[in-house]
Amino acid sequence: MSATHSVRAYSMGAMILHWLIAALILTQLAMGFLMSRVESVPDTLRFGMFQWHKTFGIAVLTLTIARIAWRLFHTPPAHAPMTRAERAAASIVHALFYALMLVVPLTGWLLVSASSTGIPTLLFLSDTLVWPHLPIPASMRATVEAASENAHVILAYGFGLLLVLHVAGALKHSVIDRMPSFSRMIPFGWLRRMPSSAIGVLVSVVLALCFIGGGLLISRTGGTTSVNAADLGSTEASPSGWVIDKTKSALTYTINFSGTPTAGTIGKWDAFIEFDPDNLGAAKARIVIDAASIDFDNSFVRPNIGGDDGLQTATHPLVEVVLDHFETAGEAYYGKGNVLVRGVTVPVSVPFTMQRDGAGRAIVAGTAELDRLALGLGLQNDGKGEWLDKVIRVAFKLEATPSGPMS
Ligand code: HEM
Repeated sequence: MSATHSVRAYSMGAMILHWLIAALILTQLAMGFLMSRVESVPDTLRFGMFQWHKTFGIAVLTLTIARIAWRLFHTPPAHAPMTRAERAAASIVHALFYALMLVVPLTGWLLVSASSTGIPTLLFLSDTLVWPHLPIPASMRATVEAASENAHVILAYGFGLLLVLHVAGALKHSVIDRMPSFSRMIPFGWLRRMPSSAIGVLVSVVLALCFIGGGLLISRTGGTTSVNAADLGSTEASPSGWVIDKTKSALTYTINFSGTPTAGTIGKWDAFIEFDPDNLGAAKARIVIDAASIDFDNSFVRPNIGGDDGLQTATHPLVEVVLDHFETAGEAYYGKGNVLVRGVTVPVSVPFTMQRDGAGRAIVAGTAELDRLALGLGLQNDGKGEWLDKVIRVAFKLEATPSGPMS
């Protein structure tokens, strides 16, 4: 049998993963370059490109996990005859590919997790597929952001270099040495394929699903997303703490626009509450809002919400309310503390009621009024409150269950 006839092709699973990952990496390189380096890309399109870039990058990471599992269960076909130096070069390039397939998406993930913009990663741009951010202590965020950005950019272009070496090697084998090369990785080639093992398929699929499913589950169960809440307070409720059912709770606001109450929505928020009616001295509450998720149902105001005259979301991604003094007034309670918006802190007093049902569940409802001018909001647009009222009326209804034994 000739040397050519003894060469075999990769297994089918290896081929599928190879071409899927290759297509995604090429797309990522092109999209990354366009969104980061080409100024003529319109901003509206650029935002979408960033979001797809994150989705495809997480897909590369997931498929790489599957590819490594596949590799552990499948021996690759022996190299076509080549010199020892060529074999060593091919092995080094392949090992570097595996390393970059892990490190490039990981540095991208780290970068968006540390970013001060606090923009969430929504897979396929879907609100229901929130990918968690890696937990990074607030004190380290700036350093991590800078380091991971540098690493991501440099290593991503390193892929380009590896691709050139990889394709040049394959071309040399097929064109100069006249040995099978591309055909080893082409599913419909004439070479006999290496067998696929059922256990290999199973482990690869299960690991990839665990990674994706685990990530999505973590963000559903309170992992860090756009708001790095873990840094702002313990997400683990204390014995007198409350677990809030977000699906049954709402935080909204209204401002009169030209005399008409106009609704505002608050998309992403978290509340950390310790409240025992019999121990008000120890009560405290912290509500953290993703400033970028705040919207207002008016087209004149909306474009300014996040900007310089508004919440300045780029530099102040969080709005935070801290209540650390509680009093009763008849059936009602008052929580007093501060609200922090775009670096400005103003005192706030929040009247609310609390009703318990037989199962111990509590419904807490209340309101608060804030002076937008005191917070520096909309000073340039309407500094006198002529058409946009000065008063922001916040309303909330929280449904919560105690996380531990309570009176
Ligand atoms: C194989 C996967 C990936 C490849 C090949 C890739 C490639 C690239 C490239 C070429 C750039 C442009 C660099 C520049 O010219 O400045 C870039 C930028 C970026 N990538 Fe990725 N990327 C990948 C995965 C990811 C992932 C998983 C995320 C986040 C979840 C991510 C987030 C970003 C961000 C935020 C930027 C902008 C960096 C900046 O300029 O601030 N990337 N990427």
